[in-house]
Amino acid sequence: MSGTYARNPDGSVTHTARRQRLDRPLTADEAGDKYWQTTAGVEGYLTSKLSAPGYAADAALARGVQRARDAGMPSIAVSPMVGQLLAIMAKSMKATRVLEIGTLGGYSTAFLANALPSHGEIDTIEASPMHAKIAQQNFLDLDLLPFPTTHVGFGLDVLRDPNGKFAAPPGVADGLPPAECGYDFIFVDANKDDYFEYFVEGLRLCKAGGVLFFDNAIQAGRIAVPADTPVDDVDANSRGLRQIYDWIEKDAGKTVLATAIQNVAFKGWDGFAIIHKL
Ligand SMILES: C[S@@+](CC[C@H](N)C(=O)[O-])C[C@H]1O[C@@H](n2cnc3c(N)ncnc32)[C@H](O)[C@@H]1O
Repeated sequence: MSGTYARNPDGSVTHTARRQRLDRPLTADEAGDKYWQTTAGVEGYLTSKLSAPGYAADAALARGVQRARDAGMPSIAVSPMVGQLLAIMAKSMKATRVLEIGTLGGYSTAFLANALPSHGEIDTIEASPMHAKIAQQNFLDLDLLPFPTTHVGFGLDVLRDPNGKFAAPPGVADGLPPAECGYDFIFVDANKDDYFEYFVEGLRLCKAGGVLFFDNAIQAGRIAVPADTPVDDVDANSRGLRQIYDWIEKDAGKTVLATAIQNVAFKGWDGFAIIHKL
């Protein structure tokens, strides 16, 4: 089942289904001349030119996408070009420790794992046991090194478990100096209603000099409403994002340096926020 999983105060679980939408762009054959010079056409053109072996052009990755489709999972992974952007960022900052929230079938996880040195570490958190199972099969098929550790559970429960792996930033238990503790790169791509809490936990777990990357940070423009808009009138997926942007405004450059970039693709108008912990 796809969508958002949240735990209610009484312990019950609410699952909010995603809206159905086209899960892939029309191909050039299907769209004819209308394909070219559209966002989908440009995406297809760039993907055909820039997909790299070991990354977007990996045959095992394509098998993984098919395995996820066959299992009935939604096609809501990052695009191949965003996958390569994640890999470029992790590689260029020489990341060794990566945390992901929202695994799905492990598509983005694979780009990140392939960008790490073999002694690196990658943790990924997923609420749906079925998604986690398919992701695990994909990781085995891709023969990833480092091999991702999948944590099955609600993102906030897993991150806030006082006895769990995320009780302290990585490296603390090994007695490393504070400057060497924490994740280099944190990719957040799970339920949007917890985005602000993921930001708070992400800042706690991120190394100084590390980066938090939030997908779906624009919400087709719904994040931008007048400041006096009652919070109940703000689109539910945008509330947490707006809290993050408000926090960053108040921080005034003391803790983070951030940007957010809008993009258009076949899935529509969205984008990502990239937050550097100073
Ligand atoms: C957009 S998909 C992740 C896509 C993946 N990062 C990729 O690009 O390949 C979001 C995932 O978050 C999971 N999810 C939803 N609510 C969650 C929660 N509260 N905690 C953890 N994962 C959650 C969904 O089951 C889904 O697999």
